[in-house]
This record gives sequence, structure tokens and C-alpha cells, in this order.
Amino acid sequence: MDERLISSSMREEDVKTEYSLRPRMLSEYIGQHAVKDHMRIYIDAALKRAEPLDHAIFYGPPGLGKTTLAGIVANEMGVSLRVTSGPAITHAGDLAALLTNLAPGDVLFIDEIHRLNANVEEVLYPAMEDFALDIIIGKGPSARSIRLDLPKFTLIGATTRMGLLTSPLRDRFGIKEQLAMYDSESLKEIIIRSARILGIEIAEEGAVEIGSRARGTPRVANRLLRRIRDYAEVRKSGFIDLESAKEGLDMLGVDELGLDEVDRRMLQTMIVKFCGRPVGLDTIAAATGEDAATIEDVYEPYLLRLGFIARTPRRRIVMPAGYAHLGYQSDTQQLKLEVEE
Ligand code: ADE
Repeated sequence: MDERLISSSMREEDVKTEYSLRPRMLSEYIGQHAVKDHMRIYIDAALKRAEPLDHAIFYGPPGLGKTTLAGIVANEMGVSLRVTSGPAITHAGDLAALLTNLAPGDVLFIDEIHRLNANVEEVLYPAMEDFALDIIIGKGPSARSIRLDLPKFTLIGATTRMGLLTSPLRDRFGIKEQLAMYDSESLKEIIIRSARILGIEIAEEGAVEIGSRARGTPRVANRLLRRIRDYAEVRKSGFIDLESAKEGLDMLGVDELGLDEVDRRMLQTMIVKFCGRPVGLDTIAAATGEDAATIEDVYEPYLLRLGFIARTPRRRIVMPAGYAHLGYQSDTQQLKLEVEE
């Protein structure tokens, strides 16, 4: 999904607090133990050899901390971070300008790297492999190529769609780390940490409640925390206990499992309108009025994790747990046939 869309749909003040909540060192980063252990070793090894870190790609659903990790890498390596995104680099020249302005060791972070266009990607290959920029001078038969040296740098790519990366690009990353959704203990810790930074008073049970409805996603957890703070300040004493967390979350339409109106509309549409038969993504998008890419990147991963839907490359189907959550009975025998089809 387009990061600019995420940002523009957030209130400006929320965008600012989102930045202030980001951990700056690996030791402050909660959860993702495997990724953290790996990165600790790679970073320490690179520091010991006084080399830049190898190029890295972080992949997984939005809001799990890919950008945060890139910032941590730069901090731990003691270098600057330059941030851009695939859709923002429209011409090869834009990328060339970014690359030639890097200092030795810098981290260049490209979010949504699967959305780079082919011309831009071509520039990236020699830059990643040989730290060189091939520039074509002139046109036609007299055209020739000159090679400019670039400083040694680290490219960090982030994507919600590893499958959409071309294999030449994927193969040029020495470090590939998949970010998984967070368990509720980690989300509780993140909420308590964020509350401390923002000066919000919260009981542990309040943090557990918000964490359990945050769809395994720190960005969602932090957003819910800010909205529940609003609720607690206006309707309660300002302290987030279990009761105000529950009431606030109910007011937001976020149910006990973290599903919101859009999730429920999606499931309901698939069960009622399409009678539980397998449905294509575009059909779901049209029937619910949501954007297909947003459904695929934001809504589906969590519904898949809950086992509420199953998918083939082209179609989606609601599973018995999804029926049960919405209070419908599923025809298990029929579902079995559909899934096997
Ligand atoms: N804020 C967002 N993600 C975080 C994480 N993984 N650890 C700590 N704080 C966070």
C-alpha cells in the first residue's frame, strides 16, 4: 500500500507521535526475536570489519516495523538514513541523484520497493553489486557508457509483496528478513512503552485489552492507544483501565479480535452476497467499496492468520471460524468441496 496514503489518512499530530514512538536501537525494539537476533549478528560483524552492512530486504504486512528497523540499522551503524519509496522514484535520474549524494556507509531505504519501475531497477543493479553508476552519454551509434564510482552504501528495501519483486532484484539482497505479526505479550509491551513516552497513564489490563485487539500490528496498537486516550480523557478520568479500554474500543467498532467494520463487511459480503462460494479479490473490492490492494495488504493478512478466510492465487473463501465469528453457520461439507476444488 502507498505509504503516502497511510500518512495522509492519519492526523498530522499522529504522524509526529508515530515518529517519536519509534525505537532507535535494537535493544529497544520489542518482539521479532528471530529478526532481531539475526540483525544483531550482521550489524556487529559489519562494525567489526568496518564495512557497510550488506543490502537487506524486510518484508511482511504493513505496520510491523520495517521502516523502524531501517532507522535502527542506520543508528547502530552510526550512519545517515535516506528515506524514499518505489513510487516516488519515477526516473532513473532521480535514483542517480539519490545515490550520488550518499556518504560512505549510508543507508538508503526504499519503501514499497516492489513498485520501482523497470528503468529505475536497471540503475540499481550495478549500484548494489559494484557500487557503480552506468551513465549513457549521447544517442544512437555514437552513444557510449561511462561508469561512475559510488560510495559503498547499504540499500534497505521494504515490501509488503515479496512475490512481486523481480528475481534479479531479490537476488541482490544478502539479508532477507520476514517480519511476522506480533503476539499479544509484545503488543502489550509496545503499548506500555508508547504510553510512557506519551505521558499516558494506563493499567496493565488496559494495555492487554488494546494489544489483543491490535491485529498483531504495532502501528494499529499505537493508533488505538491514542484514540483510547481521547476517550478516557473526555468520558473518564483520563486513566486507561480495562473498562475505559473496552468501552473506547467498542465505540471505535473494533471487536474482541480486532476486526473493524471493513473486515466484517468483507466477510458478510462473501457469506451472504456470494453464498459462501470462492470470490475473486476484485469482486470483493467492488462489492465492499474498498481498494483491492488495501484489502490484499491490510485486511487479508490478519483474516488469513485468524483462519477466517483461505485463498488461492485468484479466489478467497470464508472458513468455518469466519462464519462462527459473525454468527453464521457454515456448511462444512460444501466448504470442504470448495477448498479442494
Ligand atoms: N513501536 C513500533 N514498533 C515497535 C517495536 N517493535 N518495538 C518497540 N516499539 C515499537
